[in-house]
Formats: sequence, structure tokens, C-alpha cells
Amino acid sequence: MLQSSYNKELQWLDDPAAPFATTLQTPAASNPVLNRVKQLKIGNLTLPNNLVLAPMAGVTDGSFRLLCSRLGAGFTVSELASARAITLKSRQTIDMVRFQGQTRPYAVQLFGADPQIMAKAASFIEELQICDVIDLNMGCPVPKVVKTGAGSALMKTPDLAASIIKAVSQAVKLPVTIKCRIGWNESSINVLDFVKVVLDAGAQAVTVHARTRQAGYSGTAQWQHLQGIKDLCGTRPFIANGDISAPEHLDQLAEQTGCDGFMIGRGCVGKPWLFSQLLGHEFYQDNHIKWKIFRHHLIDMLMEHGPTAVPLFRVHLFGYLKSHVNAARLRHALCNERSPSVVLQTGKDFFTL
Ligand SMILES: Cc1cc2nc3c(=O)[nH]c(=O)nc-3n(C[C@H](O)[C@H](O)[C@H](O)COP(=O)(O)O)c2cc1C
Repeated sequence: MLQSSYNKELQWLDDPAAPFATTLQTPAASNPVLNRVKQLKIGNLTLPNNLVLAPMAGVTDGSFRLLCSRLGAGFTVSELASARAITLKSRQTIDMVRFQGQTRPYAVQLFGADPQIMAKAASFIEELQICDVIDLNMGCPVPKVVKTGAGSALMKTPDLAASIIKAVSQAVKLPVTIKCRIGWNESSINVLDFVKVVLDAGAQAVTVHARTRQAGYSGTAQWQHLQGIKDLCGTRPFIANGDISAPEHLDQLAEQTGCDGFMIGRGCVGKPWLFSQLLGHEFYQDNHIKWKIFRHHLIDMLMEHGPTAVPLFRVHLFGYLKSHVNAARLRHALCNERSPSVVLQTGKDFFTL
């Protein structure tokens, strides 16, 4: 049935040494939005498809990036990493962007506000040969980051943003891309002017999260403010981001904005098979497969993080259990749980009983 028709592609769920089946990154012929899913070129790099896993601090660690790639994501991005910490050779920061099971193509995302430090960090990352793209964070709303002039604060200092892109592009051969928001707040939506500046400075692709810094992660993404960006980008890819969680969103966003690619964030937390769904593969409907995905995810995190894996898995666990009839009670019961076997059993009961 559903499961057996994907036997080879899903072998990794039972056998960690199974090869990575790239066929899952190819859209199924039955995909309702087949015309929206396509290969994407960033500089000389060709992505197998245009569905991108968003960078999410505390969420998109190596295990989750690997899982989403295996379930169809064509490109993944690391959590934001401090350029300064990388230049100081912080083991924790370097380990965060590097993971043994890393799938490619993959971007390391850096944040900072000093062009020379950003360039030095990018060059160090390039030497490690762990990624294919250097992405520059120009959208983070967190006060600790913004206070230093980095993240979304750069949308208020476009000249500095341009200097950073130029310095990093000179320092590395890898394509340099940026991710920003639509503006600082409702009265300063400047994404079109900002995109012009970053393209002139040499950004090879642009991703825009359709919210302001002020909105943080709340409210509905304002896709209407993404109009006009594609015209500025020309042949360079424009990747749209914000509230993508269903196949029809690809159609609506592409129609409304002409975007080349789609970046998916919270929609795939607790639902990494969303990438398979967007590609038109149907195995994700099988609860037994969902259970195996859950198990694989937790085991990978145990290997990546050791004793801290279970607390770090919590954000995913609560995502997986979101549709549980007793979701609130379970969240309460499991919020201090540290035992992998209790968490595994909870997932098994939820998906298979
Ligand atoms: C917990 C969390 C952490 C995030 N961390 C980052 C980050 O490190 N770098 C970044 O560029 N964006 C980060 N973002 C923003 C996401 O990449 C994305 O732009 C945002 O969630 C909107 O997409 P969505 O509506 O699909 O979730 C983060 C978002 C969340 C929810």
C-alpha cells in the first residue's frame, strides 16, 4: 500500500546506514502544484528543488536539517551563528553549524554588524568545506542581536548592510545570500529599497520574511508586501517566507509575488513530512511512518546532543503532539521529562494506538 510503494526511499527510517534517496526531493507526478516546484540556481549551485527549510534557532539543528532533507527539502540553512564567536573559534558555535550527518546543499547563516568580522568568519567557514552558501542574517528581531546593529537593525542601515555583503563576497568564493524582513515596523516598510541595495552589493539570492521586525513572529504574514521583489531580482532567486503550511500556499504565493522559491519555518515543526506533502508524495499520511519519523528524529538528536537531547527535542515533541486530544495535558506532564524512553513511548502511543 502507501508504505510499500516507498520502501526504498524510506529505508533510512529502519536502517541508519541506508543511502539518502534523492528521489524524495523530486516532485511526484500527482503533485497538485507541480508547476511551482522546480530546481533553483543560486550562483553556480543547483538546488534539487525550491523548498527551503528556514533557519530557526533552537529548532533547525543538524538532526532536523537532515530529517527535512530526507523528507524532501531541497535546501537547508543553519541556525544563526555569531560571526564574532566563529572568529574566536567557539567550539559550541562551530559544532552548531557542523553536523556529521549533514546533507547538502546547505547554507551557514552568520549574523553580525562588522564587515571585517563577518568576512573573516565566512572565510573560516568556507575553509571547513561544510556548506555551499553563506547566508547573512538581516532579519533577526531579538533585542540582544538588534542592539549590536545586526539582524533586522541592518534594514535601518542599508549602507552598512551593503558593506557587509561586499566584504563577505570578496572574502569567499561561495555564493553569498541574505535573509531580511519587509521592514522595521508598519510605518517603515522599506523592503523594495533594501533589496535594491543588497542586490547592487552582490547578494546572489534574497529571502524575505513577510513580517516587520515589530511584528516579530505574530500576526499573519503580509504577502502583499513581497510584490515587486522578483522584478528587482531578475535572474537571481527570490525566496518568499512566512506562513507556508499547505500546497495551495505555494500557488497563492507564486501567483501573488512571482517568487522562485519557498522557505518553510514553523509549518514543519512537528510536521517534517510537510516537505513530502508539498512535493506530492503521499506516504506521510500513514501514521506508522509518522511514528518511525518521530523515532528517527529523537534518536538522531540523542546522537547529536547526548544528554541534552530530550530537553532540546521538546519543541518538536510538542509540535508532533499538537493535534493530540490531550495536547495541553501532555505538554504539562512532559515539560520536565528527561527520559528518552518515556518520550519515545509517548510518540509511539500517539501515532500507533
Ligand atoms: C524559534 C525560531 C527561531 C528562528 N531563528 C531564526 C534564525 O536563526 N535565523 C533567521 O534568519 N530566522 C530565524 N527565524 C525566522 C524563520 O526563519 C522564519 O523567517 C519565520 O519563522 C517565518 O516563517 P514561518 O511563518 O514559516 O515560520 C526563527 C523563527 C523561529 C520561530
